Amino acid sequence: MIILGIESSCDETAAALVRDGYEVLAGKIATQIKLHAGYGGVIPELAAREHLKNITPVVDVVFQQAGLGIEAVDAVAVTNRPGLIPALLVGNAYAKGLALSRKVPILGVNHFEAHIYGAFLKRPELLQNAAAFPVLALVVSGGHTALVLIQASGQADMLGMTLDDAAGEALDKAAKILGLGYPGGPVIDRMAKSGKDRAYDFPRGLMGSSGRATSPEHRFDFSFSGVKTALFYAVRNRHLNDAELADVVASYQRAVMEVLVSKTMLAAREKRVGLVCLCGGVACNSYLRRRMQEEASRERLELLLASPDCCTDNALMVAGLAWHYLRHGLKDGLDLPVSARLPEPLGRFPFAPEF
Ligand code: KG4
Ligand code: ZN
Repeated sequence: MIILGIESSCDETAAALVRDGYEVLAGKIATQIKLHAGYGGVIPELAAREHLKNITPVVDVVFQQAGLGIEAVDAVAVTNRPGLIPALLVGNAYAKGLALSRKVPILGVNHFEAHIYGAFLKRPELLQNAAAFPVLALVVSGGHTALVLIQASGQADMLGMTLDDAAGEALDKAAKILGLGYPGGPVIDRMAKSGKDRAYDFPRGLMGSSGRATSPEHRFDFSFSGVKTALFYAVRNRHLNDAELADVVASYQRAVMEVLVSKTMLAAREKRVGLVCLCGGVACNSYLRRRMQEEASRERLELLLASPDCCTDNALMVAGLAWHYLRHGLKDGLDLPVSARLPEPLGRFPFAPEF
């Protein structure tokens, strides 16, 4: 079964063709980074206008890449939640038109769940192994920072999430403060390599100085607004040379990533998980990947790092996940709505082995 996936929830217009959940036939992303760079963040209406321009060419490219025509498609999947409403509307209206004209099912995909599925796209065998569950997923992107526990039945529970900024947002806003451009994550990742990460002692959100979570109630939650404010005051009215700037960036990155690593390990120990999975745009970060690997091997935990092309927004994860919806009969109708918010509770994820 071949599914056409469409993603337009934020600032990437993406399409993909995926067979039976895992076999990638084609994928294309048109990014709008340059358009939003001057604003230091995504402007929803501009994003929607750009999606409208890009969506047809992007879909055309995936059919060309795969050497297939539209008649090969068995269903159309589209991210319908959560995301920027104007941006989502473009992808959803397009997907509905296509599904209607081809008389194939339409499937609305949860973007947050798709980020988690993206980690498994190239490792399908892990999803057949009930012994690997419960799985702990750290979803860390520009919009989300959350720890999710997934049982073999698919039952997914939010253990904790950010109380304010997402980790990616904290990197993007730091880059804006430092005049490094948008998005901040990749630049910070690069610059931090030449800086001293102990030069500044930035605060760790919801963590004590001992490295333990401050309050039991918020032990799996995150907060990144404090570290961002601390950075603002640390550099205010100062002219930093390149070496000093690299030290600030490296120390800031370390403060953000250390919290992610230690809270993930805390949750993994407490919940006795079989596998930890790291996904979302910030999962591309080389420092986070290395630290996660070091800690996971110390804790003797199996670690799944999403491959970088499946970390940031893409349509492979949308088309792949939708196959699991379809095989379990979870179709939508042409009245499919869009939503800005993440559905709570998360419910059950259909890609789990005992769903
Ligand atoms: O998953 P994604 O493409 O979009 C959302 O769903 O939010 O994630 C985008 C986020 C941005 O905040 C960006 O700065 C961050 O991922 N990011 C990175 C890296 N590459 C992208 N953060 C740290 N290091 C990177 N290498
Ligand atoms: Zn995303």
